[in-house]
Amino acid sequence: MVCMRRSENDSSDLRSLRSATAEYCSISSTSTVTGHTLCRTARNGTVSGLPPCHVLLGSVKAQLLAAASRSGANSRVIYQIRRGYIITVAILQVLPNKQYPNKLASRIRTSQPLHHIQQMASQKALVVLQKGADFQVDSIPVPVPKNDELLVKVKVAALNPVDEKIRQFGILFETFPAILGFDIAGEVVKVGEGEVAGKFKEGDRVLLEGGLSNEYDGFQQYALADAHTTAIIPDSISYDEAGTLPLALSTAYVGMYNTLPHGIELKPFTAPGGTGAYSGQAIFISGGPSSVGQAAIQFAKLSGFSYILTTASLKHTEHLKSLGATHVIDRNLPLEAFRAELAKIEGLPKIEYAYDSIGDVVASFAYALEALAPNGKVASVNPRFPFESADNNGKQLARISAVKTSPPNVDSIRALWGDLTKLLESGALKGSRFEVLPGGLAAIADGVKRFGQNQVSGVKLLVHPDETA
Ligand SMILES: NC(=O)c1ccc[n+]([C@@H]2O[C@H](COP(=O)([O-])OP(=O)(O)OC[C@H]3O[C@@H](n4cnc5c(N)ncnc54)[C@H](OP(=O)(O)O)[C@@H]3O)[C@@H](O)[C@H]2O)c1
Repeated sequence: MVCMRRSENDSSDLRSLRSATAEYCSISSTSTVTGHTLCRTARNGTVSGLPPCHVLLGSVKAQLLAAASRSGANSRVIYQIRRGYIITVAILQVLPNKQYPNKLASRIRTSQPLHHIQQMASQKALVVLQKGADFQVDSIPVPVPKNDELLVKVKVAALNPVDEKIRQFGILFETFPAILGFDIAGEVVKVGEGEVAGKFKEGDRVLLEGGLSNEYDGFQQYALADAHTTAIIPDSISYDEAGTLPLALSTAYVGMYNTLPHGIELKPFTAPGGTGAYSGQAIFISGGPSSVGQAAIQFAKLSGFSYILTTASLKHTEHLKSLGATHVIDRNLPLEAFRAELAKIEGLPKIEYAYDSIGDVVASFAYALEALAPNGKVASVNPRFPFESADNNGKQLARISAVKTSPPNVDSIRALWGDLTKLLESGALKGSRFEVLPGGLAAIADGVKRFGQNQVSGVKLLVHPDETA
């Protein structure tokens, strides 16, 4: 048998199992190569002098099987998977007629026999080993859905500017290795237990927003889905179009409908009496062609604003008007000329609401502030601006963080996602235009660099993870 050393991540369950097995089994020196390589996995997935544990995963399985088969036909493999990686393993031989202590006996009963390990599905994922490291394609296990969760085969994952910021600077993600990708469209391949079972079934086409946890993100071939932020894709919408939407929708929605300081406090159109509630009023959206801007324009239309003003390169005018913008103003105008353009708009009421969907102090936020009436409310996708209401005519800033598990967002995002299928079906919400990058997950590393080089113009960049070589 192979008994493993303690790792920091072990659950007490496994620790007690190991101490129990230590009493009942002898450690086989012939298997220690496998043993120490497998089990000395420290908290961040790396151990000095050894490659990160997940890199070893493929060979781990082969070594496990070899070591276990040396241990005899009744061997069992006991392992634990955390954040997608095998972190601790014990192979033990179940001896006939042997009296095991209760805890060990129950663990043996519930542990996976070898043929299950052989069948343990693996998938390709794009992993960032640590802050600043390059993206790399790797093999990791397919996650298993828990209560109220689904397992989704990722057909489409979209790229977002934040992916590159997380990779480079380690923002938002507390631990690495990290798997990113917040926009997912795919097919349900397994339904967990709980309420989810009545709501979704295998084969459903769904879209969902990823989270800040590896198993739930899109840069892999299979991801877990939280049923509350997953919606069925209507037949009229392709996986690609659906994949352009999730994060942009949630970001626009929380910024517009959350209360201050997380949003500009519009009455949600998802609430009774909310649809069309702002008839006769005006809203300004800085940066309409961005994915977030396109979602904000469509929400402004659902809220009934009569004047939906936005800035954009004028080549996007027709498309933005088809989404609901009433006035598209050239993004390249200096502030003074921009002011003059606003003054020309006949009947324009004072603008009490603004949304900066770009997050640049000079190029987008300044325009939102310029358009906004004193005491008006403005939301920005960049939550890091220094801003004092007192220095800005009483204008109030909402700082947006679209993280779906953050407490101010949980209820509002669930309200949106609860209505999403209906909104897509009716045509009230549309996805953006898109460009599919060939090569699957491997294409993401170059794709995300285009955000920093302003080489993404009015399209969402997508990949199809099953095209990964
Ligand atoms: N806080 C959060 O939780 C959160 C969540 C999601 C996104 N974000 C942030 O929101 C921003 C937008 O993300 P995204 O994915 O929607 O971007 P995106 O789709 O990549 O935006 C690109 C588009 O924005 C247009 N654009 C850029 N600067 C502009 C300006 N000053 N005025 C008008 N249009 C401009 C570009 O226009 P051209 O076609 O003329 O080049 C291009 O069409 C990013 O900074 C992102 O990090 C924040």
